[in-house]
Amino acid sequence: METLWKSGVGHTVPLKSEIIVQESFERLSAAAAGLFAMRAKACVQQKRRFTVALSGGSTPQGMYKVLAQEPLLSETPWPRVHVWWVDERCVAPNNPWSNYGAAKRHLLDRVALRPDQVHPMPAEMVPDQGARHYQDALTRHFQLKAGEFPAFDLICLGIGTDGHTASLFPGQAGAKEEKRLVLAVKGGNPDVDRLSLTLPVINQARHVVFLVAGKDKAEIVKAVLGPEKTSMPAQQVHPAKGRLTWILDRDAASLISAQKGEGLEGAADVA
Ligand code: 6PG
Repeated sequence: METLWKSGVGHTVPLKSEIIVQESFERLSAAAAGLFAMRAKACVQQKRRFTVALSGGSTPQGMYKVLAQEPLLSETPWPRVHVWWVDERCVAPNNPWSNYGAAKRHLLDRVALRPDQVHPMPAEMVPDQGARHYQDALTRHFQLKAGEFPAFDLICLGIGTDGHTASLFPGQAGAKEEKRLVLAVKGGNPDVDRLSLTLPVINQARHVVFLVAGKDKAEIVKAVLGPEKTSMPAQQVHPAKGRLTWILDRDAASLISAQKGEGLEGAADVA
């Protein structure tokens, strides 16, 4: 992975990207929560709002638990945080597969957020309708003009062993979408109807962070970060004007060479 440095806020020079390897899942979760809080503070200082989109799966749940505890519970400017989702399984919130449900249990029920700050995907709607509904909600919140994409301050992603990210799966048309903000798709594990943000939205973000843990992810991490170009959705994540951070635990990084525990400086840069 080539590291290109951003020389200062506002200068449109090439990207800054980094790989950070942490000793354990607990250290990965602490580093992810630290980045979340640091970005939130910087954005609220600069523009009185922080917009974040959360992914599903098991890996982000460690970050949620750390954010719901001191010191980050008090340090994070929750009254100015808007929480959106990168993807959702079309199941009820109390279903164990619900991404909203997991975030609610481990984080949202433990921090002071008003209902208007929490924007779950409409998983109960007919998927195509739900996708349009969420696209409209994003368009209003980010005051988008036709053809524009929302610029989240932070997007948290995971990766599947097949190279999927969000609910954009290899071999599916969704990963090639260029116009819409949100899609209805089907697939993954669990193999259910889903809603997903598209790659143009992900690549419009000011900061994208991949959270990846476990030995079973080592091969896909090596493939996605390797020099060979593939059509794997996770390898298409290149924020146009933003920052890309990979936070890996030692097992997930076991097939690549990277500096242990480095990085996170400059996370305060707000475009
Ligand atoms: C989903 C996710 C998905 C997830 C990866 C990694 O809703 O399924 O958003 O993209 O991030 O499958 O999942 P794990 O963190 O559980 O490995």
